[in-house]
Amino acid sequence: MKQVKRVNKAVFPVAGLGTRFLPATKASPKEMLSVVDKPLIQYAVEEAWEAGIQQMIFVTGRSKRTIEDHFDVAFELEHELVNANKTALIEVVRSVMPKGMNCAFVRQPKMLGLGHAVLCAEHLVGNEPFAVLLADDLMVGAPPIMAQMAEQFERLGRSILAVQEVPLEHTKRYGIVAGEMGSSGIMQVTEIVEKPDPEVAPSRMAVAGRYILTPGIFDKIRNQPKGAGGEIQLTDGISNLLKEEAVYAFQYKGKRYDCGSKEGFLQATVELALGHAEVGPSFREYLKTLAL
Ligand code: G1P
Repeated sequence: MKQVKRVNKAVFPVAGLGTRFLPATKASPKEMLSVVDKPLIQYAVEEAWEAGIQQMIFVTGRSKRTIEDHFDVAFELEHELVNANKTALIEVVRSVMPKGMNCAFVRQPKMLGLGHAVLCAEHLVGNEPFAVLLADDLMVGAPPIMAQMAEQFERLGRSILAVQEVPLEHTKRYGIVAGEMGSSGIMQVTEIVEKPDPEVAPSRMAVAGRYILTPGIFDKIRNQPKGAGGEIQLTDGISNLLKEEAVYAFQYKGKRYDCGSKEGFLQATVELALGHAEVGPSFREYLKTLAL
């Protein structure tokens, strides 16, 4: 029987500049922008954790220290909360890093692209399959999207990309895959292109910011030229990988909010606020008063 390794490491590329959210992101990372009461990066880390992943690897850049602080023990804060006997809040603070979670940080010295960011994590990932989660894609599903992917990975043992159908005019925003979609939402990828114009896009199946990759991807990225936008693209690495081993696309069940855009961020904020145990009911009443 083929022995399939479980995915136990996740890479979070968080070195981007977040220019679309300036001035909010002038001095703080876009991944620390909060939707209701949690920063984007925490949603992504929780999604990885719920998929059974324990090793979190952050590829950071300058001005990203708050991410390191967020995933660390907040000694003074905990001390104050203990003294004030605020048990529920202590739990909230501690839940950011549950027991068993390990966090590692590596710098991406230059913004050379998503593929390059992933390559920066190679020495921490080693020779095993790993997940990549782009925190500005906030994904909501039951089970969570990465857990759905991990389940598929245990069966297939090959790289898996989360995909969703997008309007033709949006192909230029995504990595687009081609292949024949099976009834189970799995398709073997025959082609993948980064941000094609609608006229040349091989399909409308777009890669969302969730990947499970085999370690063979590192050699491919290392040896490839710059791609779309003059950047070292993860998509190009995957395109080379699929010439040697099967790569699958998985049409996940759930919803993606593009929190890299103001509009997607606002949609996530409103919808997650409506579903929030504490503020949801009163927020719903408030929205009604706006009578839009
Ligand atoms: C990146 C990837 C792209 C993918 C997208 C998902 O693009 O390069 O292939 O479809 O994430 O959000 P970015 O949004 O960083 O430009």
